[in-house]
Amino acid sequence: MEPISHVVKVTLPNYLSGLPIPNSLGGWFKLGVRDWLSLIPFGAAVAGITYISYLAFCPIAKRHCSKKSSKPVVNPDIQKENAKVVHSFDVEDIGEKAAFCRCWRSKKFPYCDGAHNAHNEETGDNVGPLCIQRKKN
Ligand code: FES
Repeated sequence: MEPISHVVKVTLPNYLSGLPIPNSLGGWFKLGVRDWLSLIPFGAAVAGITYISYLAFCPIAKRHCSKKSSKPVVNPDIQKENAKVVHSFDVEDIGEKAAFCRCWRSKKFPYCDGAHNAHNEETGDNVGPLCIQRKKN
């Protein structure tokens, strides 16, 4: 226990007090090459702790990075910040016809922009849009 205590009470404070951290914003521009080099390990440690904290506590990062399943996802990148992608339309607003994307590759999602053709060619898949058309009387 004594080595840990020594690191926390002596080594770390001595290291931190020796860092060339300026007292003002302008001081950063006056640092020399040797000063910047001595800040690299400290900066790397801060960046590492920040990244680990981000992964541990940020719900978006958990959704992107956690491997709940090894199965591939259907949606590669549309509204990944949301827990669920939902669109609602009033039937009267759709007009005479509309094509809705089911491949999740459209840049105009939820509408089809033809991106399913490239996806199908690339993967051998066979997805296409959901076409809705008003019945002609
Ligand atoms: S672009 Fe996705 S189904 Fe057409």
